[in-house]
Amino acid sequence: MKGIVLAGGAGSRLYPLTLVASKQLQPVYDKPMVYYPLTTLIESGIREFCLISTPHDLARFQQLLGNGKSWGISIEYREQPKPAGIAQAFLIAETFIGRDDVTLILGDNIFYGGDSFQRAFAEFKGGATIFGYHVHDPQRYGVVEFDDDGRAISIEEKPKQPKSNYAVPGLYLYDNNVVAMAKGLRPSARGELEITDLNVAYLGRGQLRVYRLSRGFAWLDAGTSSSLHAASAYVQTIEERQGIKIGCPEEAAFRRGFLTLQEMETLTAGMPHCEYREYLLNAVAETKRLS
Ligand code: DAU
Repeated sequence: MKGIVLAGGAGSRLYPLTLVASKQLQPVYDKPMVYYPLTTLIESGIREFCLISTPHDLARFQQLLGNGKSWGISIEYREQPKPAGIAQAFLIAETFIGRDDVTLILGDNIFYGGDSFQRAFAEFKGGATIFGYHVHDPQRYGVVEFDDDGRAISIEEKPKQPKSNYAVPGLYLYDNNVVAMAKGLRPSARGELEITDLNVAYLGRGQLRVYRLSRGFAWLDAGTSSSLHAASAYVQTIEERQGIKIGCPEEAAFRRGFLTLQEMETLTAGMPHCEYREYLLNAVAETKRLS
């Protein structure tokens, strides 16, 4: 399966921060925001990436992430000229996707905890897989309704009267039909190709699977100044308490076997002396001790 990181949009809610760097390049505690969704996909076993952003911001992402080789992954880049909808990503990335299945993650979604995603990726056999997460303000999101047997029966985008408290987070898995299905979408009232319309189409075919994420799972979005601050505080709290990092792509790639011990040593040797480097050196030392 291939992976798309969607990191475009105007970022207007973070103005004036976004005058100098796009939303997904802003720091969330000790790393750029885009590190978190990238890490989520690396932890799920994705190695081939396409990052989509605005023509203005794309070069900065390239500067930050390069071609991914030093992390044992590959990253291609594509432009989205205007924010015409999340589902447009599948049209922009058509040649990248080729004949493969594909997952898409939003560049401002931060996930932490449990192994639900790894399980969903391992169990994916076709159709579409999305997730449901209990929130107090579902009207801000795509909302999924379940029947008494726990089966998804409807999905609505930002409903005024939500049929449940289960919001759909920004991580989606699709089979290769997604490209053809995205081509069949028409822009919504807000002028976007809606990811929810795509999910409704899969639901209509009886090919949509929805996993409910458990209580212990954290899903944060960092699209406003206060949610960005809250996300930073959350990451700091967990990292300081546990002595582990959230959203560290190098560590995830190493633990997933995308990087050998030697490659990891070369990577850390090229970093300046800093807490991040110390952390990775400790991760390597721990692995050496245990092996
Ligand atoms: O966060 C999850 C929610 O994301 C889902 O529950 C909704 O179903 C889905 O529509 C979406 O809701 P939003 O309306 O809040 O998405 P927003 O327009 O804020 O875009 C989400 C991210 O994707 C944001 O970081 C910018 C980026 N984006 C968005 C669009 C529409 C792009 O890069 N290009 C785009 O065309």
